[in-house]
Amino acid sequence: MPIKHTLSELTGPVFGDDVVRLNDQDLTKNAKVNGEPLGERIIIAGRVTDELGRPISHTLIEIWQANAAGRYVHKADQHQAPLDPNFLGGGRCMTDSNGCYKFYTIKPGAYPWGNHFNAWRPNHIHFSLFGRNITNRLATQMYFPGDPLLEYDPVFKGVPVAARSLLISSFNVDYTEEGFALGYEFNIVLRGKNHTPFEK
Ligand SMILES: [Fe+2]
Repeated sequence: MPIKHTLSELTGPVFGDDVVRLNDQDLTKNAKVNGEPLGERIIIAGRVTDELGRPISHTLIEIWQANAAGRYVHKADQHQAPLDPNFLGGGRCMTDSNGCYKFYTIKPGAYPWGNHFNAWRPNHIHFSLFGRNITNRLATQMYFPGDPLLEYDPVFKGVPVAARSLLISSFNVDYTEEGFALGYEFNIVLRGKNHTPFEK
């Protein structure tokens, strides 16, 4: 039975385009100092919708990730892998009027995290976004197809079996740019039975 939305679900933050600066959606450029970041350049794109497939337009999406060597720019990350002076690993963009978004970035590397013996996180990108209101903040992790580490990862396996595929992006040749970068599609559903699993 559809539940009528209350005022708090119909109102909330409205992000103007001025919140996003030039190149914020391009992680290969937004922290460039003296060269190109190292690693495989990729495109992540998709659509944000509600449970009925209606676009969630003009909402802010933020992402963060490790660099190609599997290292975060964070003092808590002491993994013995190199930092990249030209890569920070954070970006943001707004969905357009059709709920679509697009990021350019570097494919993140796997990294050890000490949760258990030989524990390696699969390649992943963290996502945070807002729905129609601030109480709809969704934080989740996007994975890559065919990653052999998925079946060993307690974070991924903590998601109900039926919903796991919703967290794995798919290779999309239409998002791939000739001679430049492979494209991956990751669609996000904010509410309803088939919503994207999110972190509590
Ligand atoms: Fe992570």
